[in-house]
Amino acid sequence: MSNTDFYIRRLHSICGVAPIGVFLLEHIFSISTVLAGPHVFDETVAHLASIPHPVLLTMEILFIAIPLLFHGIYGAYIALQAQNNVAKYGYGRNWQFYLQRMSAWYTFAFIIWHVGYLRVYIKGMGHGEIGYALMHNYLSNPVVFVLYAIGLVAAIYHFTNGLFTFCITWGITVGPRAQSIVNKAAWGLCILLSVIGLVALAAYVA
Ligand code: HEM
Repeated sequence: MSNTDFYIRRLHSICGVAPIGVFLLEHIFSISTVLAGPHVFDETVAHLASIPHPVLLTMEILFIAIPLLFHGIYGAYIALQAQNNVAKYGYGRNWQFYLQRMSAWYTFAFIIWHVGYLRVYIKGMGHGEIGYALMHNYLSNPVVFVLYAIGLVAAIYHFTNGLFTFCITWGITVGPRAQSIVNKAAWGLCILLSVIGLVALAAYVA
């Protein structure tokens, strides 16, 4: 690996945690406000909309679009190069590695669909107003609901397992004991966030 490859890889790793991972956490929190009632979710949307448009757009481009495009495109390049060795060794870690790749691909397609429809087509091109009513109608389609549920869990798994590999990449967890503890914590976070996200998703169609 050349020096440039090394630094690009490190940048790819950092981007996955911040800003993208941080945004994912904020996004799960925002959508979960529906659990306090449809009007609370609508207030969250209104609150975001109260940020002056040029400021919001600049933040979206700088802190979400550019890092996500970089992480997604370079990630696709890494995933195409990587060898999946699940068939060779059936160890848990290898399965996690395989799932990390699979969840990356699903998340890749899901984000294009999700952002393309809601952020670009509906909000950007003015084909509707984002809010509880729209999400209720949209998610009432069982196919959309299931694809969204898979997208949510895939993104969460990719992120939480990514936190575990991030700690190895950056030398934060060196020994097997430390890695095992962080791995368990990452699984715990994955389950917690998935449950919150799925319960919130169900609340849109309740
Ligand atoms: C919700 C969006 C995403 C988040 C929060 C996210 C987060 C992360 C994190 C935290 C890591 C761990 C970095 C490390 O091991 O040092 C990672 C790794 C990775 N991500 Fe993502 N990611 C997202 C979307 C994507 C997409 C769309 C792709 C492309 C298909 C992708 C491909 C990868 C790959 C291949 C790795 C492993 C890199 C390696 O082995 O060094 N990610 N991601």
